[in-house]
Amino acid sequence: MIHIVIVAVLVIISTLALGLFLTNAPLTQVQASQQAQIVDGLMDIHWWFIAFFTSLIVVFILYSIIVFRRRKGERGDGVYMTGNHQLEILWTVIPVGIVLWFAVIGGQTLADVERRDPQAMTVNVYAAQWNWRFEYNLTTADGTVTAVTSDTLVLPKNRQVVLRLHSDDVIHSFFVPEFRLKQDVLPGGEDFVRELRITPSQNGTYKVRCAEICGRGHWSMQAQVQVVDGSEFDTWLAEQSAECSLGDEECGQRWADTYGCLACHSLDGTTVIGPTWQGLFGSQVDLADGTTVNADEAYLRDSILEPNAQVVAGFQPGIMPQNFANILSEDQINQVIAFISSLQ
Ligand code: CUA
Repeated sequence: MIHIVIVAVLVIISTLALGLFLTNAPLTQVQASQQAQIVDGLMDIHWWFIAFFTSLIVVFILYSIIVFRRRKGERGDGVYMTGNHQLEILWTVIPVGIVLWFAVIGGQTLADVERRDPQAMTVNVYAAQWNWRFEYNLTTADGTVTAVTSDTLVLPKNRQVVLRLHSDDVIHSFFVPEFRLKQDVLPGGEDFVRELRITPSQNGTYKVRCAEICGRGHWSMQAQVQVVDGSEFDTWLAEQSAECSLGDEECGQRWADTYGCLACHSLDGTTVIGPTWQGLFGSQVDLADGTTVNADEAYLRDSILEPNAQVVAGFQPGIMPQNFANILSEDQINQVIAFISSLQ
C-alpha cells in the first residue's frame, strides 16, 4: 500500500510539472483570432490529459524498475499473478467516459468556432496554381458595389469575416496558423465553395499557406495577411479599386502580381516554371512544334488567353491557367502586355 501512495504522489507532481510546461511552452504561433482562443482552450485540456497519462505510465514503469529490480543474490521467479477483473473494468469504463466527454466538448468547440455573426463581412478567396487572390465588395458613396481584387488579405480587427473559398484548378488548402483554422479549397464552381469564419483579434502580419500538395509551385503558394484596425481597413479598401490610375506599365505589373503571373514568369531572365518575360517582347520564340514566331503584341495576347495553342519549346502545355479570358478585363490584358513589352 505504501508503494501505491508514493507512486500516486509522484504521478500528481509529474502531472503538474508536465502540464504546466505543455500549456505554457511556446509551442504554437500567436493567437490572432477569437477562434484561435477557442481552439487553444480545447488543446489545453488535451495537454493536461497528455501530461496525466504520460506521468501515470512513466512513473509506474520507472518506480517498478528501480524499487522492484532483481537484487544481488535473488534467484527465484517473480510472483505469479492472474487477471484482475475490477481493474480491467475500471480501465475500460474510465477511458470510454473520457473519450465520450471529449466528443461532447469537441462538438461544443466546433459550434463556437462556426458561430455566425450576422454583421460578418464576406471576402471571396480564389486559389490557383500557384497564388491566392482576394476579392472584396466595395460599396461606393453612390451605392454601387464594385469588386476589388488584392494579392494581400487585409482584415479588420474584431470583425468576423466569412471567407468563401474557390479554386480555379486543383484542390488547395487555406491555412493561417495564427488563426488556427484550415479548410480545403475545392474546384468545381459554386456548389463546391467552402466557408471559413474568422474573427481576427490581434493586429499583425501573418501568412496564408497552402496546406495541400497542389503541384510544382505548392511550396511557394503563400500570401500575406494583414490584420489592421477597422478605420485603417476602410481607408485601405477605398484606396483599392479595380480601376488603376497609374500608367499602363505600372498597372500591368500590378495585375501580373495580383493574378499570380510572376509566380511562374521571372523578370530577370531566369526560368522558373514558365518562360521569363525579360527580353521577350519582339524576340523570336521557338515553339514546341518546331516553328518560330515573333513575340509581338498579338502573340502575347494569344498566349495569355489560349496558353496551350502555342507552347514554347522546352515547356509543358497545361501548366498555365487557361481561364484568364474570364478573369482579366480587356484593359487589364492590354496593361499586362504593356508591362511585358517594357521588360527589355
Ligand atoms: Cu495550393 Cu498547395
